[in-house]
Amino acid sequence: MFQSVKARIIALISVMGLTAAIAVPLLSNAQDAATPMTAEEQIERGAAIYYSVCVACHQADGNGVPGIYLPLNKGAIANLDDPTLFIYTVLYGRGGMPRFNTTYSDEEIAAILTYIRQAWENDAGAVTPEEVKAVREAYSATPIVSPTPDAQIPEGQNHPEERQDPSKASTPDA
Ligand code: HEC
Repeated sequence: MFQSVKARIIALISVMGLTAAIAVPLLSNAQDAATPMTAEEQIERGAAIYYSVCVACHQADGNGVPGIYLPLNKGAIANLDDPTLFIYTVLYGRGGMPRFNTTYSDEEIAAILTYIRQAWENDAGAVTPEEVKAVREAYSATPIVSPTPDAQIPEGQNHPEERQDPSKASTPDA
């Protein structure tokens, strides 16, 4: 009896230790401002993150899933001249989209966004780590509950709030 409790405690402590062993290097990587990436490295790193993380929802062709995941290909926010809103959305999330502010460094967010802004049919300018830093600092303490602005809804798609009722879901082709 006592033995099995002890064994469980030991098991729990080793799991905690393992978690810390994995998490600490991950966190310190994210915090490292690292050496600035070249334009090529930015695209490479950005694509690597896109195709391991964002792809789950926004899909390999960047077109998302109609009525659920907004497209980033020709995406309203992704292609704005001023990347502030794009940076803000990826840092702090929106609706069903997770926030990435504690997952990625300024360099990494800049790389992901730069990749997306030049992928598929997109043709927008690169994003710098300094721009990401500025948005992060300006909004870091703000609890974000930002509704999707109507103007940002791609043509042919209904508003995310209406999408919560599956019977109102629409596809761009419909
Ligand atoms: C778990 C699914 C999921 C993942 C992973 C995800 N997103 Fe999203 N994303 C969403 C959803 C859902 C929305 C729509 C949010 C809403 O309802 O307003 C969205 C919206 C967006 C928008 C706003 C598009 C627009 O034009 O309004 C951007 C930009 C975006 N995501 C970028 C990203 C990036 C970059 C990544 C990877 C780092 C990512 N997302 C990962 C689900 C996801």
